[in-house]
Amino acid sequence: MLSWLSTRRSVRAFRADPVGREVLERVMEAATTAPSNTNRQPWRFAVVTSASRRRDIATAVRERAEEMKAIIRRGHHAEDFGNYGDFFHEPLESAAAIVVPQYREYPDLIANLLESGGANPKDFHTASAMQAELCSTSAACMALLLQAHAEGLGACWMAGPMVAKDRIGALLDIREPWRMVGAIALGWPAEEPKRQPRKGLERVVNWFEDTPGGGETP
Ligand SMILES: Cc1cc2nc3c(=O)[nH]c(=O)nc-3n(C[C@H](O)[C@H](O)[C@H](O)COP(=O)(O)O)c2cc1C
Repeated sequence: MLSWLSTRRSVRAFRADPVGREVLERVMEAATTAPSNTNRQPWRFAVVTSASRRRDIATAVRERAEEMKAIIRRGHHAEDFGNYGDFFHEPLESAAAIVVPQYREYPDLIANLLESGGANPKDFHTASAMQAELCSTSAACMALLLQAHAEGLGACWMAGPMVAKDRIGALLDIREPWRMVGAIALGWPAEEPKRQPRKGLERVVNWFEDTPGGGETP
């Protein structure tokens, strides 16, 4: 499993071949296996294979990225943005399917109970304070990416398309209480990206364990 996980890549260029409905259904089924707060399953997904709608989404994002570029140019940082600019829309341009994950919040029952007892629920970091529904939907996105990888598909989870959130929302009828979480570009890969480096465990993990002698480390 570990060695297989490390073979997943964010793929940003796709072949023109379509991705069949059956494959997409397995990918979406995988997303719904994710854990969620009190099993709310607070997610919903727009799966866009329609060529015209995909084009509309990619165009909306590209236009917003160009708008941003023009603004940033005024601040003399166009070159810095140049390194990132394409990452806002590029994977969407050739994707055979664009999945737009959405989440919604639910009433925070525990927070209400705490409030009725005179407490500030924020002091207890209950579900809404820690954005549990967004966390759950992110877990679903990861499961989706892994199933896509298992199918031999390429995929790229993207926050960039959020710059065109309003236009994408209008195109896909995303309305409150639903909130878009980004977009996932999917398709048969036309590139083999290099493995991106990862921080070593020594930088990201603090171990708190018992030592053979009985004491605790560190
Ligand atoms: C929340 C999130 C947002 C991301 N947004 C973008 C994006 O807008 N455009 C893009 O090309 N890649 C995006 N990525 C992909 C990352 O750049 C990529 O995961 C990272 O560089 C590590 O590479 P790897 O996925 O191939 O291991 C995003 C990934 C995540 C998890």
